[in-house]
Amino acid sequence: MEASSDHLQHDKISERIRQWRERIEQARENQHYFYNQAIDELQGGARVVVHGREMQMFASYSYLGLIGHAKINAAAKAAIDKYGSGTHGVRMLAGTLRIHTELEETIARFKQTESAITFSSGYLTNITAVSTMVRREDVVLSDNLNHASIVDGCMLSGAGFLRFRHNDMADLEFCLQRVNPEATTLVVVDAVFSMDGDITNLPKLVELCRKYRAWLMVDEAHSIGVLGERGHGIEEHFGMENVIDLKMGTLSKTIPSAGGYLAGSKDLIQMFRHFARPYVFSAAITPAQAAAAKAAFEVIEEEPERVAILNENTERFVTGFKQLGFDTMLTSTAIVPVLCGADESAYEMVRHCQNDGVFVLPIVSPAVPEGLARLRATVTAAHTAADIDKGLSVFARAGEKVGII
Ligand SMILES: Cc1ncc(COP(=O)(O)O)c(C=O)c1O
Repeated sequence: MEASSDHLQHDKISERIRQWRERIEQARENQHYFYNQAIDELQGGARVVVHGREMQMFASYSYLGLIGHAKINAAAKAAIDKYGSGTHGVRMLAGTLRIHTELEETIARFKQTESAITFSSGYLTNITAVSTMVRREDVVLSDNLNHASIVDGCMLSGAGFLRFRHNDMADLEFCLQRVNPEATTLVVVDAVFSMDGDITNLPKLVELCRKYRAWLMVDEAHSIGVLGERGHGIEEHFGMENVIDLKMGTLSKTIPSAGGYLAGSKDLIQMFRHFARPYVFSAAITPAQAAAAKAAFEVIEEEPERVAILNENTERFVTGFKQLGFDTMLTSTAIVPVLCGADESAYEMVRHCQNDGVFVLPIVSPAVPEGLARLRATVTAAHTAADIDKGLSVFARAGEKVGII
């Protein structure tokens, strides 16, 4: 039977489809396709079963090892029993449940702000935050290694959009000086950069934003549970209190659920509650997600030792890589880029690691610049010292075979 799209075969969309098919087929032929693999089972925090094989997990964002935590699972199940599996639509109309308001109060307390609001993904939260805050007549300044969702929010906003060099505060100041002093300006950065694992210079950012009367938004996707003695994030890390105007985070990494939040002043959050299109026009997060997220924030407070273990594990993991001769770039967190150079080398590293029982993934261009392909290895509080050492020996064997150490 003739395919229904046969009449479209020569247009640009068909061309793009063909290019992607060929690229993926080529990668598969070279045994370099590692994406979209289904994890069949979780075995404790640090092991997974993939295609029937048990593997060590070094690609998880569950930094504190909270996926599968008994209290969090129980909270999600209880929420389904109480509210059912879905909501009644958008938050502003019938979609707000008591568990949503309880979660938002919990987040506001955790982030020491007056108020907080949640959305159905972290990606959507960033798009919403930037495009609701600034408009065509305003300016947004963004670190050039910020997450794609921030970049997309900047473009959607229609505001003047300038990128400053990564974590380069002199370049940020240069950009701030060039902005029309009449324009409203928003500076936005990741707290921990998701491809490099380094930490933004919050003290200097705050100083510059005050000097040039700019608003400051910080994405804490990889900072919650990771930075600060109690895992409260970047302000705790630098010993600063409530210096960020808008604190963004996801509920999908340390917090083992899905969704995103914004935390800030009561009036700012109230504006989002009435004016942010994905809040007004898109359905609420499900009761199970909300309850799991709320329980997870409570667990971080109740089990602070998890943050200490994560810090010890990060130290052991990064030092181990360095001693083996790998280049881990500027990381100082649980996200450890293992520089491979060419895309091919990263693919080969992953092939050897996965064959040897370590689940890790390559990050290649255009996600990172050409020649800076890497593994993005992550360590969590669920790993034991023995897990880390065993994992490192697999990375070492792969590195020797590929010739990068
Ligand atoms: C820095 C950063 N911000 C936002 C997001 C988007 O969050 P989510 O996956 O919860 O949509 C991510 C996800 O990878 C991220 O790394």
